Amino acid sequence: MKIAVIGTGMVGQALAGRLAELGHNVTVGTRDIAVTMARTTPDGMGNPPYSAWAQAHPTVKLATFADAAAGAELIVNATPGNVAIAGLQAAGADNLTGKVIIDISNPLDFSQGFPPSLFVKDTDSLGEQIQAAFPQAKVVKSLNTLAAALMVNPTLLAGGDHSVFVSGNDPDAKKTVTALLESFGHTDVIDLGDITTARGTEMLLPIWLRLMGALNSGMFNFKIVR
Ligand SMILES: NC(=O)c1ccc[n+]([C@@H]2O[C@H](COP(=O)([O-])OP(=O)(O)OC[C@H]3O[C@@H](n4cnc5c(N)ncnc54)[C@H](OP(=O)(O)O)[C@@H]3O)[C@@H](O)[C@H]2O)c1
Repeated sequence: MKIAVIGTGMVGQALAGRLAELGHNVTVGTRDIAVTMARTTPDGMGNPPYSAWAQAHPTVKLATFADAAAGAELIVNATPGNVAIAGLQAAGADNLTGKVIIDISNPLDFSQGFPPSLFVKDTDSLGEQIQAAFPQAKVVKSLNTLAAALMVNPTLLAGGDHSVFVSGNDPDAKKTVTALLESFGHTDVIDLGDITTARGTEMLLPIWLRLMGALNSGMFNFKIVR
């Protein structure tokens, strides 16, 4: 499948790398190719710059948000929540029309420091806001509840015996996303319902962040036992 990954950070890199490894035709989207490729220092979390990652992943192309989205059949949104809609607007609403958007972003507000709060919750969600902003796209919220490495390689933990969620209005879009997740190795993909159910998975972030603090690691996940 031709896939655009909007975002050059650790989530974008994780998704792009795994999708390419599985044989997909992947283009990563960035605001400015030259600026991104000129960055040589690690980001604030110590992750290597995109240019170093790109050298190790020669089949993954880099394009502007709009060019990446224009050529894609499916789009992954991997930008920070507070700029997610702006990033997708830069990708171009027309380039999203009729396409599945896997939305991994979380509505984190770091303005008061760490841990962040949520800038939308309870009665609304970022997933819903993205769906409302791009009504012609098929938004599926998923993968926002686990660390980037585990999103794409769940077997790194407990043989992959843990859970992920999908939320979205379009049943076929959720089927497409579920198949992709299963191709990554996920074995327990729970369909929560329409896009309003993204409120629930986005509101897992406050406990996810406290667990990361308590365990001193992001390498854990929720397992829904039933
Ligand atoms: N890190 C994790 O393990 C994890 C786990 C679950 C969910 N998430 C969620 O996944 C998303 C991506 O996480 P990440 O750590 O990969 O993010 P990140 O490194 O902060 O994202 C970088 C991307 O955001 C773009 N960006 C930054 N400011 C922008 C702006 N003003 N307008 C448009 N685009 C902008 C950058 O564009 P350029 O390429 O032009 O620089 C870059 O492509 C977040 O919403 C995060 O909450 C992360």
